Amino acid sequence: MLRPAFLLSAFAALSRAAKPAAGDPCAAVAGQAFVHPADALACLKSFPFNETLRQNVLTNNIARVFDFFTFEDYYLDSPPPFQESTTNIRADLARINKTSYATDYDFNWDLYLFATQLNDGHTRWFPDCYTSYQNLLPAPIVSLEIDGVQGVYITPDLVDFVSLLGTGLTDLITIDWQRLAGAKVVSIEGQDPYTYVEHIANTVSGNYLDVGVRVNSVFSSYRLVANTYSQRFGDLAGPTGVAQNSLTFKLIVANSTKVETITIPYIASFVGLPFTDRDSYWANNCVAVDGTNGVDFKGSAASSRTKSRKQPKGDIVDKSSSNAVGLPPQFQPTLPTVGGDEGVILSYILPENKTGVMFIGSFEGDFGGFQTDVVSAIDAFQEAGVTNLIIDLTNNGGGFVCLGQFLHQYLAGSNFGYPGFQSSARANPLARKIVASDIELGLNFDFSFYTADNWAFFNGTEMPADYNYMTPDVPIVINGKQDATSQRFHDTCELSFEVPIPETPPFDLKNVAIVSNGNCASTCAMFSTLMFERHQTKIAIFGGKPGQDIQYKGMAGNQVLEWFDISSEIKTANLQDDPLAPQDLLVSGDFRHNWRTAWSFLDEKLPIAYVSELPQLRFPYTLGTYNNPEKLWLFAEEKFFA
Ligand SMILES: *[C@@H]1O[C@H](CO)[C@@H](O)[C@H](O)[C@H]1NC(C)=O
Ligand SMILES: *[C@@H]1O[C@H](CO)[C@@H](O)[C@H](O)[C@H]1NC(C)=O
Ligand SMILES: *[C@@H]1O[C@H](CO)[C@@H](O)[C@H](O)[C@H]1NC(C)=O
Ligand SMILES: *[C@@H]1O[C@H](CO)[C@@H](O)[C@H](O)[C@H]1NC(C)=O
Ligand SMILES: *[C@@H]1O[C@H](CO)[C@@H](O)[C@H](O)[C@H]1NC(C)=O
Repeated sequence: MLRPAFLLSAFAALSRAAKPAAGDPCAAVAGQAFVHPADALACLKSFPFNETLRQNVLTNNIARVFDFFTFEDYYLDSPPPFQESTTNIRADLARINKTSYATDYDFNWDLYLFATQLNDGHTRWFPDCYTSYQNLLPAPIVSLEIDGVQGVYITPDLVDFVSLLGTGLTDLITIDWQRLAGAKVVSIEGQDPYTYVEHIANTVSGNYLDVGVRVNSVFSSYRLVANTYSQRFGDLAGPTGVAQNSLTFKLIVANSTKVETITIPYIASFVGLPFTDRDSYWANNCVAVDGTNGVDFKGSAASSRTKSRKQPKGDIVDKSSSNAVGLPPQFQPTLPTVGGDEGVILSYILPENKTGVMFIGSFEGDFGGFQTDVVSAIDAFQEAGVTNLIIDLTNNGGGFVCLGQFLHQYLAGSNFGYPGFQSSARANPLARKIVASDIELGLNFDFSFYTADNWAFFNGTEMPADYNYMTPDVPIVINGKQDATSQRFHDTCELSFEVPIPETPPFDLKNVAIVSNGNCASTCAMFSTLMFERHQTKIAIFGGKPGQDIQYKGMAGNQVLEWFDISSEIKTANLQDDPLAPQDLLVSGDFRHNWRTAWSFLDEKLPIAYVSELPQLRFPYTLGTYNNPEKLWLFAEEKFFA
């Protein structure tokens, strides 16, 4: 999170030096942290369409990576309530392959939108050349219940919040934006505000299969990143890219009754790498670099690899949060923290000394530090005689698969047994070749996620590295299409637990509850699904559109592989020249995909991603609880435990 600050100072230096070359739209925006979106777009659109690059990205890379995507065939007819994600992925690729595009941007942005609208945060195309700006509207919105009625409002803390971005941004805003704080929104772009919010959820948000969860992602909300409270702009006010210049609202400002129409401009915030003109923009932001494509881990890199396991990850990339903006101080908890703070968890004891709160911002960061933070928080709760536990998972984007299982195991006790799901990978022909080749090369988990010693049999015994769990494969039929998976297996997370696990639950599991806004992705979704499916843990979801369901979990794939990861798997298995192998990208970008499926305990034929699981409790945000974690926890304490 240091990068934006570093960049800002780099810009300040650059903007003094740069002399825009006439007719170079990139030189015109170079060195500026904030610009008008149309000016940024002129730079992005200055690179002509290039068929070589399209075939490199689409045909030789993405179409072949899709062979590994576990959910491909589910998209042909996505089961309700996720039906609006239905699409024929191969037909979409064929369409993008045939469309005439004027610019390289137009091609990449079409591909970006197609992948985003699969609504799977694990399966996305990020072309670095064109995700280098984030549009910011000085009017983030929230859904609040006021006097018993839910409505959409411009965030009441607008002035404090937007001012945190500095005058570089606010000086460019040509309207009197401060007076919009707390305004009631009557319409956006001529539509009912909740209808427009759902439109954004379906066209901009991505990441989450459930539309209700995506709706919450459109609103502004609090989160905890790198031990610091911050506030998301939300997908209406802070989308990736510069697709729009302004939005027209009808609204009633605070303390007025008059409806007025106001057009609010977006300002584009630069989050890419510094440049001075068109050529250096392309060179610094668009061309493949070290780390774009994978490496053969058997080479020199392998000798320096540690002997610890590669840790599988399940997370989303929230590009629209590249701009970390602090949560205004009046919303930050006033209670002292208890336990450790190695990076992603802050813990508190509520004033009655009955309820402990762990705000788990993600499952990323320091792998061991997460575990010691959990131990020290729970020790502190027990010393204080706390008997209830609230876990806040708001805007938790996931992280290490094994930290989700660790938290579940710690709360359920080691006597509970295996803390994870049954899992499998897709058994496409190249995947089967990789496993066979890894075995022949004598590789193990030091080199590859594909080798069997990453996994265990259902009886808990670690699979030997030379066990071939892809052959024979397991045929399955999804939406009438024949496919094949590997044999199912368990994770081996307990081998990476660094602290002793209590044999029995530290708290009566009936007294453990979860709060969130449903934006709980991947490892976070798997953790909450384990708590719900195995222990019927009570979950309260806040926000959303009135009258519309919202799932408690956002996106429950399993393990994600970045393009770098699957590319390294292929190269390490000596299969780079196989005709089925995706080829190195010429551009800087990442096509990531959901590589493993987690299967539900409630219906072992269904991936948990496709099991509809609604929270037992649902609350709107209010002027008291929106943006205010401590007030929200006090409210939840009463609802859960009174
Ligand atoms: C298209 O891109 C390729 C790969 O970067 C490059 O070699 C080629 O010169 C480009 N073609 C044109 C017409 O710019
Ligand atoms: C795209 O079109 C080219 C040229 O017709 C073809 O070789 C390639 O296989 C197509 N790729 C996809 C993904 O459809
Ligand atoms: C609206 O009125 C309330 C109560 O009089 C006041 O506290 C608040 O500052 C006013 N808000 C605005 C935006 O003028
Ligand atoms: C909670 O515990 C703290 C620390 O022991 C103590 O100071 C405080 O009075 C307690 N509060 C209640 C309501 O018992
Ligand atoms: C666990 O299952 C595997 C595969 O069926 C078997 O080879 C192994 O011996 C079993 N281990 C134990 C401890 O039962």
